[in-house]
Amino acid sequence: MTLILGLEGTAWNLSAALVSEERAVYEAESTYKPLHGGIHPREAAQHHASELKKVVSRAFRGAEKEGFSLRDIDAIAFSQGPGMGPCLRTVATAARALSISLNTPLIGVNHCIAHIEIGRWRCGTKDPVVLYVSGANSQVLAYRSGRYRILGETLDIGIGNALDKLARYLGLSHPGGPKIEELASKGAEYVYMPYVVKGMDLSFSGLTTSAKDAINLHHHKTEDVCYSFQETAFAMLTEVTERAMAHLCKDEMLLAGGVGANRRLQQMLQTMCHDRGANFYVPENKYLKDNGTMIAYLGLLMFNSGNTTPIEKSAVNPNYRPDEVEVTWRDVE
Ligand code: ATP
Ligand code: FE2
Repeated sequence: MTLILGLEGTAWNLSAALVSEERAVYEAESTYKPLHGGIHPREAAQHHASELKKVVSRAFRGAEKEGFSLRDIDAIAFSQGPGMGPCLRTVATAARALSISLNTPLIGVNHCIAHIEIGRWRCGTKDPVVLYVSGANSQVLAYRSGRYRILGETLDIGIGNALDKLARYLGLSHPGGPKIEELASKGAEYVYMPYVVKGMDLSFSGLTTSAKDAINLHHHKTEDVCYSFQETAFAMLTEVTERAMAHLCKDEMLLAGGVGANRRLQQMLQTMCHDRGANFYVPENKYLKDNGTMIAYLGLLMFNSGNTTPIEKSAVNPNYRPDEVEVTWRDVE
């Protein structure tokens, strides 16, 4: 049986998890919460550095209670990118140290693909079109000929960052997504917002500016502005996802990433899938947001397909794109 330790720490969440063949064994985490404003990369990295020992020890103790020992660990997986440079470097250093001291291979994991694979695992979907929406990322992807291809993506900021910026402007603390969702549920009147879809790509930065103007210059109700922001941004995402499904003739769709927790986004995608006779899949919230289990799980898939990372190739890559990864664990269709 294979047992993998996974370390996640690309941004706000530091997490260590153990996954055995087909089972999430144990996960320990520690959350960085900015005192004010958004995530500060160096502060987040300092948080990770000071919490690492505690979090890893908690994960080890948890695994021991589940009947595993340190000696059972076959490899150490870590988020190699994308993410914030200082955060990535802190966690990668810990992963290298653990790999050397436990004398086990290292596995550098692409964080975006980990979001996808944990969703495929938990939901049992085989070959979906994926909508991956988080703080820094917004992409539509599908697997084809040995790689996850990016079919459409944001041209500027991720939808999560756009929501967080609006929340910050309204004086709400980070993360803003859930607070905007709450306000939006009380809105009723649609206020015009720029709907920017260019081919298969999207742009969200104009939405944030327009939402600020709607409140500041035109004195619209905050709830109506949040509602309109969500309706516009989520319709854009749904449109591009649907076009990808139509072109590829796929009848499965998987939602991934922290913004996937939004009920209104889930509802729009569900309706779109239902109307085309396709199945819509979304994992539990704890597997949508950043978590160590997804890193360990992709590590397990990579390890079992002979895909490990020599130390000299373990440098982090803050701009690591999912289509750079050669997928060794899926059949070429
Ligand atoms: P990545 O490195 O993949 O971009 P991330 O660091 O942004 O990941 P995630 O946990 O995947 O982390 O996503 C966090 C984002 O999800 C934040 O922008 C947060 O505001 C947003 N979010 C969380 N819950 C909701 C919600 N209910 N509605 C909308 N957005 C949400
Ligand atoms: Fe993420």
